[in-house]
Amino acid sequence: MDGRLHGDQSLRAHDRDHHLHGQTDLRRHGEDGPVVMVTEGDGVRFTTDDGRRLIDGFSGLGCVSLGYHNDRLAEAAKRQMDKLPFAPTFYGRSHPKVAELAERLTSMAAVPMDRALFQCSGSEANDSMIKFLWYRNIARGQPERRKIVSRWRGYYGNTVAAVSASGQPHMHAKFGLPLPGFLKLSTPNYYLGHEEGESEEEFSNRMAREFEDLLLAEGPETIAAFFAEPMQSGGGAIRPPQGYWQAMQAVIRRYDIHFHVDEVVCGFGRTGHLWGAEAFGLQPDSTSCAKALTAAFFPMSALMIKEDFYRDMLRNADEVGVLGHGFTYAGHPVGAAVALEALQIYEDIDLIGHVRRVSARFLERCEALAEHPLVADVRGIGLFCGFQLMADKRARRPFAPGLKVGVRVQDAAHDRGLYLRSIPPDRLSFMPPLIIEEDEIDEAADILEQALDAVWQEIR
Ligand SMILES: Cc1ncc(COP(=O)(O)O)c(C=O)c1O
Repeated sequence: MDGRLHGDQSLRAHDRDHHLHGQTDLRRHGEDGPVVMVTEGDGVRFTTDDGRRLIDGFSGLGCVSLGYHNDRLAEAAKRQMDKLPFAPTFYGRSHPKVAELAERLTSMAAVPMDRALFQCSGSEANDSMIKFLWYRNIARGQPERRKIVSRWRGYYGNTVAAVSASGQPHMHAKFGLPLPGFLKLSTPNYYLGHEEGESEEEFSNRMAREFEDLLLAEGPETIAAFFAEPMQSGGGAIRPPQGYWQAMQAVIRRYDIHFHVDEVVCGFGRTGHLWGAEAFGLQPDSTSCAKALTAAFFPMSALMIKEDFYRDMLRNADEVGVLGHGFTYAGHPVGAAVALEALQIYEDIDLIGHVRRVSARFLERCEALAEHPLVADVRGIGLFCGFQLMADKRARRPFAPGLKVGVRVQDAAHDRGLYLRSIPPDRLSFMPPLIIEEDEIDEAADILEQALDAVWQEIR
């Protein structure tokens, strides 16, 4: 480890005084500086400036699929930087890597897709989709079809339209958001949301009725799309209950609603399938992906649409000319080269096969924690698991918010060498890098158990 950086207080002070952080308590940061300074990483672990090595149980932000070091990705980036570090994709210009990636990615989609638009973030991909829905609906003579339906606790990004689709109240508060016409349904958290005696299927059917009621109240002809993650991530790793997607998709089909599936977290193996859509049997009309597209070695996202959608867009194009939308770094050559290499690595190492193998151990260890007195509900798939912490699991009585039980478990795990994330109210999301091995899963699960024990001792 670099001794110069070890606990370097001046860098912490620079960050405290000059770096504006998103998704951060600004007052606390301005007083205390960074919670952690990550200096380097290797495999599933990263190192902090105070010399600690932690297992990353949150894959950075659900993105570091191949861990923190990969020679092939680094070399692919270097090769591309040496050859062609930038080329625009505006004005019909292109370059070999992005053309190759567009063909490769669309041919891999869960259901056939024809065109890919590349951007730098999941937010931009989803925001672009909302604009394209509006653009397409104007083109096909349905300009009133503008409303976006999504679910509370959904996370589609932070740009103005994507955040309006997101169901995270703290991301709307004080921004004057969401925009009008962004409608929300309940989150499919069976444990918290079911009525006494209601089975998973009955709960799922009730969720679908809520969807149908909303469509009928608003008028299906005013709905541009339903946006959903196969399994909600930013909401706290919420795996939908039995029958949920079947019931929801029956409504989607009945009213011919465009179904946009956000694969930003679920895509590329997280669920033990290439796509979350495959894991849950979804039939998307369009898809966004990011994060593991480049294993997070380069910021890149993609939006994929089908040919019929594209043909409708052409009608406007014939009238207006240029598609009035685009970002400077769209289809960046280095991002495209890194993405192509990441996709090849996934194939070469059979990443999906690996996730399927080790996820048996992962889920077994996670589900065993359901017996812990702090843990009320555990649901996961692949290497993606959510925990609900409750004061009384039978009566579904939450902890007093002031106790900050989720944050305490997160911090206790952190102190013992595992990074994972607490999401209010008292949910934990555990999603390690996809290359994690069984012994590392055991180590991480042992730490999580010790952290739960420690907090239980404090508050019992
Ligand atoms: C499911 C999902 N969609 C979209 C986004 C937004 O992606 P980005 O942060 O790259 O804009 C995120 C971010 O975590 C996400 O989890």
